[in-house]
Amino acid sequence: MTEESKDASAVGLARGLTNYGDRDFSLYLRRSFARSTGLSSEMLAKPVVGIAFTPSGFNNCHRHFPELLEAVKRGVLAAGGLPLEFPTVSLGEIFLNPTSLMFRNLMSMDTEEMIRAQPMDAVVLMGGCDKTVPAQLMGALSADRPAIQLVAGPMMTGRHQGERLGACTDCRRFWARFRAGEIDRAGIERIEGRLATTAGTCAVMGTASTMACIAEALGLMLPGTAAIPAVHADRLRAAEATGTAAVALTRRPIRPSQLVTEKSVENALRVLLALGGSTNAIIHLTAIAGRAGSAITLDRLNALSATTPVLVNLKPTGTHYMEDFFAAGGVGALLAGLKPLLHLDCLTVTGETLGERLAAAGEGWVDRAVIRAPADPVEPQGGLIALFGSLAPGGAILKRSAADARLFEREGRAVVFSSLEDLSRRIDSPDLEVTAEDFLVLQNAGPTSDSGMPEAGYLPIPAKLARAGVKDMVRISDARMSGTAFGTVVLHVTPEAAAGGPLALVRDGDRIRLSVSAGRLDLLVAEEELARRRAALPPPRPVPARGYARLYRQSVLQADRGCDFDFLTAAGR
Ligand code: FES
Repeated sequence: MTEESKDASAVGLARGLTNYGDRDFSLYLRRSFARSTGLSSEMLAKPVVGIAFTPSGFNNCHRHFPELLEAVKRGVLAAGGLPLEFPTVSLGEIFLNPTSLMFRNLMSMDTEEMIRAQPMDAVVLMGGCDKTVPAQLMGALSADRPAIQLVAGPMMTGRHQGERLGACTDCRRFWARFRAGEIDRAGIERIEGRLATTAGTCAVMGTASTMACIAEALGLMLPGTAAIPAVHADRLRAAEATGTAAVALTRRPIRPSQLVTEKSVENALRVLLALGGSTNAIIHLTAIAGRAGSAITLDRLNALSATTPVLVNLKPTGTHYMEDFFAAGGVGALLAGLKPLLHLDCLTVTGETLGERLAAAGEGWVDRAVIRAPADPVEPQGGLIALFGSLAPGGAILKRSAADARLFEREGRAVVFSSLEDLSRRIDSPDLEVTAEDFLVLQNAGPTSDSGMPEAGYLPIPAKLARAGVKDMVRISDARMSGTAFGTVVLHVTPEAAAGGPLALVRDGDRIRLSVSAGRLDLLVAEEELARRRAALPPPRPVPARGYARLYRQSVLQADRGCDFDFLTAAGR
């Protein structure tokens, strides 16, 4: 056997040896160092399951990961594998500046390279908080070693004066009431302590929960495990079963590239739409698909949205929480409802097809208050729609299931904020000339802006209008919106203002027409005037001199390409 063929056929710790120019010496050296861990040679000869382990003092959502890790390891050991955890970047949504999205690609690169560089036959991806699951799936797809996702699971709800509270839709609801003067400072401080009370991810169908459901729909996670609450004993059993399934993957390898296909991505889009899921998930799913060489076009999103009902009644679009979704039947019940719309021949990580999974599950009890029957949907059409027009030639996203339909067909006067700083300086000024019929426009909050595409698209209602009882207005930006937010909020306008898109040309007083029924977003300004404004735009900002900020600015793609780095997509540069 040649040295190359020995490398190619190597498994366990013999895989991917450190290069000292002498393969046998490398193996001998690795074994001798591995033995310093106290593991027996019998253990060291077993198939290796790497565990991408992402606890962090800066990530409250992963607080329970040490306990979850023990359960994964138990499953691996019981099935005859050797579990070896390794750290990667962890992204705690609320603790990152300027935004967690800016670091999603960094985490994906870390995950990809550590899976590829270290000797593991399969990998368990432990993630949960918003950007961590997409980062891990992107990295695992690029590394393409057998992988299985395990998520943190959602938080339980808290209580405040007899009301259930869940991060973070209720965070926003109470903050809006505080801004409107309905709650005093002492009240909002009491609520602050009751919004996020357990380990786990946000308690509603925000980005983390949406991505967990998408991972299950893609077949990259064990059936029925996306929605189990973080602190439920079933979460530990799911972790153990995930470890066991990972060992099975070492013996019968199924690679992520076999699971993420055009068909499974379409299934995931159906699930996203039926969930009324997070707008962020469009960006992440586009990036995940891009790693597998599939493209999601916004036209295709609209076609699927027109034929996919919203079946899940969860906040922020509905009334229930993730713990209710789990008790109601979870992703399995949703997939069963969507069955006629799905590609049932898609493979899953267990080796079953999606159709076989659903057939094996049979018809279980479903709480129809939370997961509606297809004949009685929450909405007859999908929760998300892409808009196109002269203001968004590359598209924009509206979460219509979380918006006020009375604002869907209208023309309005633009009230423009040129940056986040400008927004925070003027939004509550008594001098701001604004009415409830105006369109609030935020510029320079897209992927290449200094703000790194923050979840700032949910512009606050100006204080004087909030105090007068205004609850929703049309808001337009190149920013993102938290999956837990709601309102008539047009997001991800592409190309962004910082890249010279038409959004950069909007000025106070311009007329903008929104038509959700026609899927249009148009700036009603004459082309000669736009040309004059375009010529007067400032030159592009200089690229940062060094480090990740430089790599990010030089490489990040627009929202319609998932904000991945150009050199990381399957197509590469
Ligand atoms: Fe981690 Fe919401 S802050 S999921």
